[in-house]
Amino acid sequence: MERTTVIAEAQLQAQKEICRQIKEYWQEKGIVPCAFVDTYGCQQNEADSERIRGMLQDCGYTMTDTEEGADCIVLNTCAIREHAEQRVFGNVGALVHTKRRHEGQKIFLCGCMMGQEHAAKKIKSSYTHVDGVFNPHHLWRFPELLQQVLLTGKRVFAVENEAGNIAEGIPVVRQNKLKAWVSIMYGCNNFCSYCIVPYVRGRERSRRPEEIIKEVRELIAQGYKDITLLGQNVNSYGKDLGLGIDFADLLDTLAQLEGDFWLRFMTSHPKDATKKLFDVMAKHPKIAKQFHLPFQSGNDRVLKEMNRRYTSGQYLELVNYGRSVMPGLILTSDVIVGFPGETDEEFEDTIRLIETVRYDALFTFIYSPRKGTPAAEMPDPATKQDKNRRFDKLVDTQNRISEQIHRSYIGTTVTVLADGREGDVLTSRTEGGRLVRFKGSDDLIGSFVKVRITDCTTWSLVGELAE
Ligand code: SAH
Ligand code: SF4
Ligand code: F3S
Repeated sequence: MERTTVIAEAQLQAQKEICRQIKEYWQEKGIVPCAFVDTYGCQQNEADSERIRGMLQDCGYTMTDTEEGADCIVLNTCAIREHAEQRVFGNVGALVHTKRRHEGQKIFLCGCMMGQEHAAKKIKSSYTHVDGVFNPHHLWRFPELLQQVLLTGKRVFAVENEAGNIAEGIPVVRQNKLKAWVSIMYGCNNFCSYCIVPYVRGRERSRRPEEIIKEVRELIAQGYKDITLLGQNVNSYGKDLGLGIDFADLLDTLAQLEGDFWLRFMTSHPKDATKKLFDVMAKHPKIAKQFHLPFQSGNDRVLKEMNRRYTSGQYLELVNYGRSVMPGLILTSDVIVGFPGETDEEFEDTIRLIETVRYDALFTFIYSPRKGTPAAEMPDPATKQDKNRRFDKLVDTQNRISEQIHRSYIGTTVTVLADGREGDVLTSRTEGGRLVRFKGSDDLIGSFVKVRITDCTTWSLVGELAE
């Protein structure tokens, strides 16, 4: 069993001191260095990239949005599917040229892909223009790694699979002025048989509630309006802390903070979602009535092989309860087609489940074997064509449902958070994340307003300010 280690204050201070030294290093050269951070994968990685930017800023770097001419490039990678990895390898390959054009450019790779020994090895042997590699466990040590590369010119690899840690107080540069991510826990204990995440991000560990409350309070004070709590399975929050506080309790506390904001969270594992959680959601107006509840498959045999530990019946019961206490609850989900051994008949159970639940949106994936996971060893007789055919049917089914739900907004009045301008209209999002365009003045940006929906296009709604 891995232990959770809270990185000691002294160690983090040492990293801060290194940031100061790097800043001085550049000042002595009379250069203001710039950095480019590119993120692949999920919100968890987005949140990590904001901390990488925070550390870079402390080291004196300004941010740029292109590889060209950057003094430091960090690719924060994802390992969830083969496609994600191929994109990374392709993009890293291309950096040979940008590096040639900008002497002294330093290239780092980090994130989940670097948590896999074989991927880190491949970078070491075949991508020699990469200066440094670190996996998610070593993120907090980035300043130290950067300094080593700058001072010695030698390549660094921090890829040991350490016991899971938690580092508090790393500086953060947020990408958005209204929406913020807050990681409440790291890692995953579930070992769904297809998934690489537990291998690359280690075991579940929760941040202490007071640290989370402090961060959310600060965000609200800074004017953030849409705050998402992040974890691979937020419903097991607190189990490792032994404080008698579960995720529903944490949410309950946060939703009582003063201010005008929406609170949301992801992801929930159906086996751990509780009625108590739905009740807390229903009770607080500040908790967005949106729930992302991945089901992965509608067939019980496949669910068992996936090691998901719930049945489609239990899943539907949960959805029904949620809707009974929150009519109009926005439901979204993830689903995988072509899991090893899935038959056409079993796939039809997935279609049936989608038609029963009628999701607002679905994230659909074709199964991708991940080295080292149990599913990658399972016999997989279905052909690529079989899988593509199922995938197309899945997407068609959901598109039809999405369109019907989308149209049904016309004539209703919804609360939206105005977040920007596009020509002569403002852009905004509903509680469930739908894009709404309407005419209004710039001073509405950053506030919640009521909008009457008058029309829709395929991907967005059109409305007008309601009195
Ligand atoms: N922790 C979250 C999801 C993390 S990954 C959860 O349990 O819901 C996001 C989604 O990617 C998963 O829900 C799953 O649908 C998909 N996914 C994960 N591994 C995959 C694989 N090997 N092939 C295809 N899709 C995968
Ligand atoms: Fe992967 Fe399952 Fe953990 Fe989600 S809960 S990260 S799908 S192992
Ligand atoms: Fe990818 Fe890691 Fe997220 S594998 S989906 S970036 S947790």
